[in-house]
Amino acid sequence: MLRVDEQQQEVTFSPELVKQFDDIVSRYPAGKQKSALLPILHLVQAEYGWLSSKAMDKVAEYLKIQDIEVYEVATFYSMYFMRPQGKYVLEVCRTGPCGIVGAEKIMDHIEQTLGVKEGEVTSDGLFSWRGVECLAACGYGPVLQIGPEYTFYENLTNQSVDALIADLKVKARN
Ligand code: FES
Repeated sequence: MLRVDEQQQEVTFSPELVKQFDDIVSRYPAGKQKSALLPILHLVQAEYGWLSSKAMDKVAEYLKIQDIEVYEVATFYSMYFMRPQGKYVLEVCRTGPCGIVGAEKIMDHIEQTLGVKEGEVTSDGLFSWRGVECLAACGYGPVLQIGPEYTFYENLTNQSVDALIADLKVKARN
């Protein structure tokens, strides 16, 4: 369950972040600043890890559009997170071709290994996982990706997942 205070935390965009917003908006004709919404939401998510209602309200304020115009876009696309996530989000393809070669078993293994259900965050804040639709690497399943760079890991086995999680724990410490 998402705590109310997590949604209500005040958000202040840094001058550096606003400068990046400005750069994106400048690519569009005057008055068409709403076109910058998707990349701006990506930047906000990269900064905060997810999109709280306060953060989305701030984006609406910056773009001079209605709050609902931000919510309807942010909730439509699955790459935007509406709740806090781990530092690393393991997104496992669960579509048919990956399912045939064991995606469900990989997700079960991740759940067992991390000790959290889909969408939850590990107690150390490092990991979340979820099933997603086709990642366009159907010949190399089971497949998972990790954002924000969307690095792909293919031909997954329980052993390769264990190695990946171990590597990420080391990476997080450095
Ligand atoms: Fe898994 Fe396409 S079905 S990548």
